[in-house]
Order: sequence, then C-alpha cells, then structure tokens
Amino acid sequence: MIASVNQISLLKPDDWHLHLRDGKILKGVLSHTADVFCRAIIMPNLDPPITTISQAQEYKKRIIQSIPEGVSFTPLMTAYLTDDMPAEVLERGFREGVFHGAKLYPANVTTNSSYGVTDISKVDNLFETMERIGMPLLIHGEVTDFNVDVFDREAVFIERHLEPLLRRFSSLKVVLEHITTIDAIDFVENSEFDIAATITPHHLHINRNAMFNGGLRSDFYCLPTAKREIHRIALRQAATSGKPCFFLGTDSAPHTRSFKESSCGCAGIFNAPFALESYLKVFEEENALDRFEAFSSINGATFYGLPLNTERITLVKKNISVPQMIDVGLDGDPNDFVKPFHSGETLGWAVRGFSEMGE
Ligand code: NCD
Ligand code: ZN
Repeated sequence: MIASVNQISLLKPDDWHLHLRDGKILKGVLSHTADVFCRAIIMPNLDPPITTISQAQEYKKRIIQSIPEGVSFTPLMTAYLTDDMPAEVLERGFREGVFHGAKLYPANVTTNSSYGVTDISKVDNLFETMERIGMPLLIHGEVTDFNVDVFDREAVFIERHLEPLLRRFSSLKVVLEHITTIDAIDFVENSEFDIAATITPHHLHINRNAMFNGGLRSDFYCLPTAKREIHRIALRQAATSGKPCFFLGTDSAPHTRSFKESSCGCAGIFNAPFALESYLKVFEEENALDRFEAFSSINGATFYGLPLNTERITLVKKNISVPQMIDVGLDGDPNDFVKPFHSGETLGWAVRGFSEMGE
C-alpha cells in the first residue's frame, strides 16, 4: 500500500458480506459495489433462498449480466442452509467451485430467514461435511429467543451455540458475520479455532442511540443492531488492528423507502455506494491508514484461501457529499429509492476517477 497525506493506493478490495437482491433492483444496486470491489461474497437470502447448485448458478448469471460495461467483478456464491439441505449438495457445490461457503441463518433471525435452520444441533451432518471438505461456514450469530434482550442476542449466541459448535467441529472454518460486540471480538481474536469475523462500516460509525435520535429512525436499524458506545469503540480498535481474523464485509442491505418507512421497517443499511470512503474515515480517525489494505484487501482473501487481487485502486482526499437518496432503477418512484448510509453527510475521501457529487 502506498499512502501519502492526500492519496492512498491499495490492492483493490473485496466485500466478504454483501446483499445484492434480485430482479429489477439488482443492476442498480450492484454497480455501487462492482465499481470499486473486485469480488464479493453474495448472501443467499433471497425469497426463495439459494439452496441448490443450479439456483446459485442462475443467480450468478443474473449478477454477471448486471455488471456495468467495462467493469470486472466476480460474485462468490453461497448456499443457504436449511433443516433439510442435503450434505451432498454442499459438497458437490463446493467442489465444483459454485459455492464458496454456506450461510447459517437461525430461522427468523433476520430478513428472509424463515427458511433457516430451526435447531442448530440438528444439522451436524452439514457441519461435519463442511469441516471435512474445508468449506467455510458463515454465521448470522444471534439467537432468536424472544426472551433474550435484542442487544444481548449476539453474546448469547456465542455462548449457547457457537462455542459448543466449534467444540464439536474443531476444524470447521467459520466466519462470524457483522460482529457488533466486545464479546464477539474477544471470542474471535482469542479463539483456538479457525474463526474470523467481518465488520461493517455502520457498526464502526453508529451506536444504538442512532436508532432513537429525535424519533424512531429505521435508517439506522439493521441486524445485528448497533450496540452501546463501548462496543463501537472496541470494533474500531479490532478493525484497525491489522489482525488477520478481522476483515471487510459491508453487509450492504438495501430496502426501498416503502419498506423502511413502515410500522414494521425492514432491517438493513445500504452502505455500498460509499463503503470504502466510510471505512477510510474510520481508519484515518484511528491513525491506522497503513492498516487499511490488510483489512480491505488481504485478510479476507487469505482466510477464504483465494489469491489476492492484482488490480489497484486509488483514493484521494477530497470532500464528497453523500446524496439523500439513490435511485436504484425502479421506475423513478421516490418510494422505491434507497437511502444510502451517510446520506446528507460529507465524507473526506473519494475514489479517484469517479464522478464526485456536487461537481
Ligand atoms: C440483511 C438483509 O436485509 O438482507 N439485513 C440486515 O439488517 N443486515 C440480512 C442480515 O444480514 O441480517
Ligand atoms: Zn447480511
């Protein structure tokens, strides 16, 4: 990585946790990621979810067809674990290079997770296969128990499910996705097991107050929810530590206005349009710009056993205004726009060669 006061040049990053959706919105969402990231782990929580090899291949095709012209981007597909997923499908999909991992959603934990696993101890056959073939298990680590406080669900998941799971399958490769707590940081960085974690931009910027600032603000609602300030500070330290077990995963999860502004607003923050700029702000504030490349472009690929990218990207110090809304190509109806993370704010880094807002 080459960094000066006004410019930073690094290996092109990858996004190790991304929701692209499907259908009409796909193209309008994808361009924001494909323009700056080389590869992304594509979350399989469509409705219906991606549970077969052919569904993954078809979805991959639709993604590739939606990549802007002249841009090179590789979607890395994942399988959605269900109670009756045949282990043989995972094994074949992984060996054929279609699946790069499988995602465990405890049933009803988040958006489109009702097909998820109802009892983790009942799919040991899947974990056993994944452990044997070295297939990464990506986990949404929250319990769904309504009696557990929503802000404790990640910590309780680790104790109730993750630790016992790793004891049963001690060579299983695990990514604990979008971590939000000191408990998760401690667990991952001190683990004797093969476990890493992704960290989102929003969990580095906001704490749980953001959801209740002057009213109920669904734009800052995602799962797992942001936690107390002490957790945010610890996440910033973890992300900027340079430790190989932490890497970039935006969890960019677009929902249109009508789904956000409702009495039961959807969980998810659309951060893809300014994700790199958002992370860079944190690394700069933490005096850790020299560690950004490890987090964004090296640690994830190394964990997944994939080659590093060779292309480079340059960001320059320059104020950019984040728009209030982004038209993702759904008929131009404002109810179908999506609010980007940092909307209305000014960020201090810009990807070189891009049209800078307000110019
Ligand atoms: C994600 C979505 O909308 O698909 N939402 C979110 O709040 N992060 C699902 C997920 O990753 O939990
Ligand atoms: Zn997600």
